[in-house]
Amino acid sequence: MRLEHLHYLVCPGCSGDLSVSQTEAGSPESIETGQLKCNSCGNLYPVLRHIPRFVPEKNYAASFGFEWNRHPNTQYDSYSKTQISETRFFEATRWARRLEGQVILEVGSGGGRFTEQAAGTGAMVVSLDYSQAVEANYRFNGHKANVLIVQGDLYAMPFRKKFFDKLFCFGVLQHTPDVQKAFLCLPLFLKPGGQLAIDVYKRKWWRYLLVTRYWIRWLTRHIPPETLYKMCDKYVRGMWPLVNFIHRLPGGMYINWALLIREYRDLYPLTEEQLKEWAVLDTFDGLSAYYDKPQKLSTVQQWFEESGLINTEVHYGHNGIEGRGEKPAEMKKK
Ligand SMILES: C[S@@+](CC[C@H](N)C(=O)[O-])C[C@H]1O[C@@H](n2cnc3c(N)ncnc32)[C@H](O)[C@@H]1O
Repeated sequence: MRLEHLHYLVCPGCSGDLSVSQTEAGSPESIETGQLKCNSCGNLYPVLRHIPRFVPEKNYAASFGFEWNRHPNTQYDSYSKTQISETRFFEATRWARRLEGQVILEVGSGGGRFTEQAAGTGAMVVSLDYSQAVEANYRFNGHKANVLIVQGDLYAMPFRKKFFDKLFCFGVLQHTPDVQKAFLCLPLFLKPGGQLAIDVYKRKWWRYLLVTRYWIRWLTRHIPPETLYKMCDKYVRGMWPLVNFIHRLPGGMYINWALLIREYRDLYPLTEEQLKEWAVLDTFDGLSAYYDKPQKLSTVQQWFEESGLINTEVHYGHNGIEGRGEKPAEMKKK
């Protein structure tokens, strides 16, 4: 991590300022291996492979660490030569294309496909994830002077409250143990006038009946990620000729999804090999996440009301339910 980025971090325990207490490898401008110390409570936090770490190495998001290091670039626009992540990022946030001078907080970055989009605006991007996915994100975005990648927990973020101009959290909330609590953590970090953009899987009464992954997730989420990944890879690639046949039937894409294979032929302009790669990734994603808790539109609307944000909009969108809001000068509720 660059030393010039140290001021973006505080102790997640007591919000005290941090200083560098040890540098084992690095340069005068940046730490590769070392340790940060809280100036108030004395807690120590390691910096490993350039990334400050505020959580234990093993946690409930381990499958995501595996997933994003196995598919580090699959969903990056710069790799797929598409505009899939760009379109979703700007349509879901409705933010301007140029944001120089602003500081954006990304919560739950995964491999960093949206970090790439946010960094492209010219804003300073502080990007947090709970899992080892931060390694994948660092490989692609860590070299950028306007990106700081942090391994931390959204329930105890190592950042200053009321600090960020913008905050986004895509594809994450449903994968946390307490989704409402996770959502309500986010606005605290926005400065007055700051803008929030989130999405969360949608819950419909028929979802648990028709979305077949919910029938077997109780088992698959306990399978070690390496083993489950091999099973998904074999299954998707072995089934691919049949997937293509089924796709041509009426409602074929949904039949394939019911067969647990996430094929996106009608949705995204991907090559045949990319379609397979995305299908393996998302089939694994759907079966491996420890938590998967879709939400109702009315529930998310209620959270936005409770949060005290203003100018809120909550509707169905790219990845389920999308919500946006703005922090007023004085929050009604903290
Ligand atoms: C489905 S991935 C989405 C990644 C990325 N936002 C995207 O859409 O490509 C969900 C991510 O949320 C992260 N996550 C889950 N619980 C978290 C928590 N408590 N704090 C921070 N990140 C968390 C996981 O580690 C994982 O990388």
